Amino acid sequence: MSTALETSLAVVNTTTYLPALESNARDLVGAEMAGVESRIEEVLSRRPERLRGIIDHVAQYRGKRFRPLLALLVARTSGPVKPAHIDLAAAIELMHTASLVHDDILDNADTRRHVPAIHARWGHQAAVLLGDFLFSHAFELTASVGDPRLNREVAMTARKVCQGEIQQSLEAGNWNISETAYQDMIEGKTAEMIAATARLAALICGRPDAECQAFDAYGRNLGMAFQIADDLLDLVGEETRTGKSLGTDLDQGKATLPLIHALSTLKGAQREELLRQLGSSNDRANLRRLLDAAGSIDFANDRARDHVARAKRAISFLPATPYRQALLGSADKALARDC
Ligand code: IPE
Ligand code: IPE
Ligand code: MG
Ligand code: MG
Repeated sequence: MSTALETSLAVVNTTTYLPALESNARDLVGAEMAGVESRIEEVLSRRPERLRGIIDHVAQYRGKRFRPLLALLVARTSGPVKPAHIDLAAAIELMHTASLVHDDILDNADTRRHVPAIHARWGHQAAVLLGDFLFSHAFELTASVGDPRLNREVAMTARKVCQGEIQQSLEAGNWNISETAYQDMIEGKTAEMIAATARLAALICGRPDAECQAFDAYGRNLGMAFQIADDLLDLVGEETRTGKSLGTDLDQGKATLPLIHALSTLKGAQREELLRQLGSSNDRANLRRLLDAAGSIDFANDRARDHVARAKRAISFLPATPYRQALLGSADKALARDC
């Protein structure tokens, strides 16, 4: 570990973020996660005084830190974490946070990470610009590593996230999208970033291309399961647990997997009732009854479970170590989300 990294690891109190992480993984890379937190804090502290309130809000309210955790676990499957891994993990988390700031505007969602979303407190204009500010920091941080491959791939990932979100917003209100179109959208907006996290962490380790691709497949499938589980939470989850506005997919006319399945399964009066429900009413209990009648919650869970199994298979080449075990556990965790 470099001296600079050791110094940054020493300055952060690790108890500030630990409760949200998966316990086994947290124990394995707790010190390195402190390095990532320190890097993010350092980047965000470089702001003019006038921006203090809005930026401190983003810095203070942290999510699960799932992507940095994955980057560090992948790194540890090869050996010690390198400073470039810390920069990558911090850059990805900044990019992810940027995408959430923008996403909450698109979804008209007022709560994020248990507190008001940026746009709900500072307005749309400031939130658009703050998202851009965070994306820019992510690119600047990536460039500081000095490996052009990382610059290109992180930029490409940002583009794919935007493509997925654009595709989704163009389909708003279309309840007839195919399962394939849904898969494309969630692969773009969510799975690409998780795939890039795992693939690029392996690249920094110097792993051969085939192994980087295996990590990509791990992250991609995990990301697909993560978003399917998230879409289930939007329909049947609890806001007090997730800490974010739920039900926004329906409000925004997003056809997620359970709905796509229910619409293709239910017939006659039940299908009409579901369409009526989607068009106007917001009777969650009735919606749940229709989804249960169609077996759509189980169907979506099964799809997510398939992705988790594929994610795990992709890294079966790794020798049995606690890090491999933690990566397998993280894949299971994507499925069993309640927040
Ligand atoms: C939320 O991601 C956006 C999705 C891809 C579903 P997370 O659930 O990782 O959000 P935070 O970082 O923990 O807030
Ligand atoms: C994921 O989709 C958003 C991004 C990839 C930015 P969602 O809209 O479902 O995410 P949440 O539920 O708001 O976190
Ligand atoms: Mg959203
Ligand atoms: Mg969601």
